[in-house]
Amino acid sequence: MTALPAEIARVLLDWYQHHQRRLPWRGDPDPYHVWLSEVMLQQTQVDTVKSYYRRWLERFPTIGHVARASQDEVLKAWEGLGYYRRARQFHAACHTIEQDHGGQFPTSPESFRQLPGVGPYTFAAVRSICFGDPLPAVDGNLRRVLARLLKAPQTGPALTKVAESSLAPLMHTRPGDINQAIMDLGATLCTPQKPHCLQCPLSRHCGAYLSNQVQRFPRREIRKPIPLVPVALGVVWRGDELLICRRPSDGLLGGLWEFPGGKLEPGETSAEAVRREIMEEVGLAVEVGPFIGTVRHTYTHFAITLDAYHCISRDGEARPLGCTQVRWIRLAELSRFPFPKANHKLFPLLKSPFALPEVAA
Ligand code: ADE
Repeated sequence: MTALPAEIARVLLDWYQHHQRRLPWRGDPDPYHVWLSEVMLQQTQVDTVKSYYRRWLERFPTIGHVARASQDEVLKAWEGLGYYRRARQFHAACHTIEQDHGGQFPTSPESFRQLPGVGPYTFAAVRSICFGDPLPAVDGNLRRVLARLLKAPQTGPALTKVAESSLAPLMHTRPGDINQAIMDLGATLCTPQKPHCLQCPLSRHCGAYLSNQVQRFPRREIRKPIPLVPVALGVVWRGDELLICRRPSDGLLGGLWEFPGGKLEPGETSAEAVRREIMEEVGLAVEVGPFIGTVRHTYTHFAITLDAYHCISRDGEARPLGCTQVRWIRLAELSRFPFPKANHKLFPLLKSPFALPEVAA
């Protein structure tokens, strides 16, 4: 194990006292609030999280409010933050707390650790900040700071282990503040590009800085280029109502609503894919009408191009064959349902069906 000088803890705490970012969950020891902030912050930038965090607590002031909400209400409050599995698991965890702990955040570490979605990072962050447990909360910022301090050759999970084992012995006092000091240092000074080493309180201890190799740490993991997947969908009209479908609860974008559609098969045009997908997903034979537009969206491991078409449904019953629910709604009702970002990009392009020649005639 690589040892860090004990002085680093004092240096970090001094720096944190003067330079910490003012964030809405700071100085608020309520574990529900801290837990929520940590779940939101796991894949999302601090600046985006702030307004979601405030709105969420207005909407769901206690764990009990989350537990009693429907999945739609929870996903709607999360809409736009992405990685919706986090929201579903947070919802499920609040259910468990309501049932097994009377709605009170569990003070026993084991009970907290067993809740859905509580992995090593969330566990360490909440336990260190709210309960003073000496646990390093290893996120991306902390990994970068530690990799530079130690000139660590490791990447991936091995770097996480090095970060944990070298920091834990320093966490005698205020472990939550030590964790957050490192997160802030990583976000404001020890940035991925052009770090501000001259202002960094740790530069005297930093192996990478002292050997003039800051840009070489952390070691880069080689990323494969992500595939581009062509997808097509239909905005299916029946009179002045349009059809939306709910995605299965588990998996990508689980529980969100969307327009029916899916991936193109080899050799298929997007209009053909729309007809086929709508038949498979909801059992309707539709007429594919005017092209609406193409939007592009990037997920973590792939990107999609989404070709959208207006479609007309003249007869038949929509049934949830490849989805969990179907609904006919008016255009103005779209904002009541949680949709993926890629579908949101289409909203400004949608017009009422009366703009369609077939319907207007
Ligand atoms: N990123 C994740 N958790 C954080 C926290 N508590 N403070 C600042 N940035 C964070």
